[in-house]
Amino acid sequence: MRVDRFLSNLPRFNRQQVRLLLVENRVRVDGQVVRDPHFDVREFSRVEVDGELLQAGKPPRFFMLHKPAGCVSATRDPQHPTVLDLIDEQDKHDLHIAGRLDFNTTGLMIITNDGTWSRRLTQPQTKLPKVYYVETEQDIGPAYAEVFAHGLYFAFEDLTTQPAELVQLGPKSARLSIIEGRYHQVKRMFGHFGNKVLRLHRERMGALTLDAALQPGEYRALRDDEIALI
Ligand code: URA
Repeated sequence: MRVDRFLSNLPRFNRQQVRLLLVENRVRVDGQVVRDPHFDVREFSRVEVDGELLQAGKPPRFFMLHKPAGCVSATRDPQHPTVLDLIDEQDKHDLHIAGRLDFNTTGLMIITNDGTWSRRLTQPQTKLPKVYYVETEQDIGPAYAEVFAHGLYFAFEDLTTQPAELVQLGPKSARLSIIEGRYHQVKRMFGHFGNKVLRLHRERMGALTLDAALQPGEYRALRDDEIALI
């Protein structure tokens, strides 16, 4: 939210007072004087006026989990274990999943409380590739790569998928890189050829690669350099 709106939403300041506070250098966000009324204040920002703390700011948190098969990409589920059950952190219900995976899909899952950051990771507009290792029931044919590169029409959403890159690894295995994360996208792409996906594992999201030291079900905090990659 803009800093002028953040301040004028507080009962103690009207819009005229907020304008003055800003031009008189009395507002600090994360320790820096802010004069620009458009400056973005987030739930993680520390906001002070004349040295008085108005919002302490929550620390943003970022985790990488190796999702095992047989757990739901949800924060709550009445029947099945969820990925959040694997996370042992305080206030874990503040966290959300950046890019869900199906029940039996394994691999890289990012969990955070920072919605702006996670949107950059998942929005198709930022064009960050999501890379999957895929094993199929039948042989992967020569036409697949070209069809995936052109995009496939998904009638339910009335859209054509963005160009995807397929690298064949064996007769029934491949690495597929997609930009969006539509519902069951990879399975539906192979389903176009009547070919069932038997194993699906996410290796990478943008520049974030699943840590090979993490066993299924294990997680760790992202390092600062990894957070800065997105
Ligand atoms: N595409 C799928 O079909 N399933 C997943 O879990 C992820 C991508």
